[in-house]
Amino acid sequence: MGLRSPLINVMINAARKAARGLVRDFGEVEALQVSIKGPADFVSAADRKAEEIIREELAAARPKYGFLLEEAGAIDGEDTSNTWVVDPLDGTTNFLHGIPQFSISIALMRDSKSFAGVIYDPIADEMFWAENGDGAFMNGRRIRVGARRNLEDAVVVTGIPHRGRAGKPGYLEQLAAMMEITSGIRRFGSAALDLAWVAAGRFDGYWEGGLRPWDMAAGIIIVQEAGGIVTEVSGGTKMLESGSILAANPDMQENMGEVLRRAKAAK
Ligand code: IPD
Ligand code: CA
Ligand code: CA
Repeated sequence: MGLRSPLINVMINAARKAARGLVRDFGEVEALQVSIKGPADFVSAADRKAEEIIREELAAARPKYGFLLEEAGAIDGEDTSNTWVVDPLDGTTNFLHGIPQFSISIALMRDSKSFAGVIYDPIADEMFWAENGDGAFMNGRRIRVGARRNLEDAVVVTGIPHRGRAGKPGYLEQLAAMMEITSGIRRFGSAALDLAWVAAGRFDGYWEGGLRPWDMAAGIIIVQEAGGIVTEVSGGTKMLESGSILAANPDMQENMGEVLRRAKAAK
């Protein structure tokens, strides 16, 4: 079904509106790289502005829904079963460095489950979306997870813990194990886009720990609707609570999980 539901239209419009400012600001970042203060404050202002636009658009369309916003936090709604989960700029470090790999991520959680998701890469102008039961799409075309069956043919993407993040020793074991067994590993820097690209079959799998709900809530439903499986690395299904995620096509997901768990258990 290429037709977009009213709900998806609301989400896409909010993402597009916020993207205009982000793209303009991204163009400014390069000029700011040379200033002594650097672009960090500028980028956090861009981030907050984008979030504000998204919040206004979504609230105007669905006034009773609550919010979980990366910058502004949780805002209770009258309707307690529907909550928007928003990352206005996923891939901040890339944005700050003038690297054109970042996204806007908007999810609707219904009764604590990812119900609909929109992820927009404004530089490539790629809009990914999915709604429960309706399949996953990119710019109006149906997308599906990759069909490769073996890890030796797979290109997988991950998030490497950086300064201030826990879990580095265990992560290194996982990375080493995946290095041995796959065709290639990538680190692109936007968890939401990593998931969208798994849904589109560009990456065969993705794993990361230490994420927050807004990094993955939209990506989870998009991967699932594209035919993929999403769990925690442990195999559990409390991704939003634990921050651990493992997404891949059904043929590879379990194998990837086994490799990752075995690697960590060995220490
Ligand atoms: C980050 C990105 C990155 C992931 C980090 C996230 P932010 O989000 O998704 O890919 O590795 O864990 O925090 O801070 O750019 O919104
Ligand atoms: Ca994020
Ligand atoms: Ca962010």
